Amino acid sequence: MLVLGIETSCDETGVALYDGDERRLLAHAVHSQVAMHEAYGGVVPELASRDHIQRLVPLTRRILEQAGRKIGDLGGIGFTEGPGLAGALLVGASFAHALGESLGIPVLGIHHLEGHLLSPLLSERRPGVPFVALLVSGGHTQLMHVEGVGRYRLLGETQDDAAGEAFDKTAKLLGLGYPGGPALSALAESGKLGRYQLPRPMLTSGDLDFSFSGLKTAALMLVRQKGEPADIARAFVDAVVEVLVAKSVRALESTGTKRLVVAGGVGANKQLRAAMEKRGIDVYYPEPELCTDNGAMIAFAAAQRLNSAEPSSPGFSVKPRWDLSA
Ligand code: KG4
Ligand code: ZN
Repeated sequence: MLVLGIETSCDETGVALYDGDERRLLAHAVHSQVAMHEAYGGVVPELASRDHIQRLVPLTRRILEQAGRKIGDLGGIGFTEGPGLAGALLVGASFAHALGESLGIPVLGIHHLEGHLLSPLLSERRPGVPFVALLVSGGHTQLMHVEGVGRYRLLGETQDDAAGEAFDKTAKLLGLGYPGGPALSALAESGKLGRYQLPRPMLTSGDLDFSFSGLKTAALMLVRQKGEPADIARAFVDAVVEVLVAKSVRALESTGTKRLVVAGGVGANKQLRAAMEKRGIDVYYPEPELCTDNGAMIAFAAAQRLNSAEPSSPGFSVKPRWDLSA
């Protein structure tokens, strides 16, 4: 079955075509709104929704053309039902339901984080189940035990800011613009190791939860004391990475699992990847272009569920807040 995936939960419009019979991604396209939101230092929800409306039709036309398929070839549609910005989610939901209705094909609402955590299965080197997934995005930081499609158990999560959010806020303190993760990571490369010591929040809490808001405050103190920006960036990145790696190792040990999947925007982070490798963890990542938000992960998740004959999502709902393991 040919599945169209649609992602509009935040500031990226993503569409993709996944062929469930050939088990292959045929085409995908992402339009990032970063340049539009940059002037405001963060995502403006109303602008995000309006932009998704303008992008969806041309992007969908483009990937159909790239894949050499016609709209009538579609056998199913998956869209991000949540979590995310309500207005932005509604754009994807309306588009998916209208198209699905007109074609008489099933339409499935997909959990955004399920998309992220299954995304390494689109790589050539893919993990078998069970695995532990570390989901580190702008809105979430979670450890999940994954036994198969739809079988997810939450092991731990952040008590306050998400890892990506902490990256973005600290980058802002250092005047690095939005989104700050990649810029902060690049600045840290030239920073001196150990020049500043920042706390390792909840490192020894004995559970698998995280906390990152204190770290951002500690970084603010250093900025106020006119600390060297690159060295502050280095201290921040080192602290976040150490906590993420330590808790991932503990999650693997406590579940007796060997494989770790790292997904979500922060999974693109160089220092995190190097530290995971140093610990000798059998770790799997999505392809670099699929680390951040995209339609491919949604198309893939929908294809798995449509395969198991899950019924079409009834009505017209979105879930701006939604627990994956609930
Ligand atoms: O998964 P994602 O694209 O969107 C959400 O669902 O949130 O993640 C975006 C987050 C942002 O906070 C961004 O700063 C962060 O991922 N990020 C990074 C890197 N690339 C993206 N953080 C650290 N290092 C990176 N290289
Ligand atoms: Zn995401």
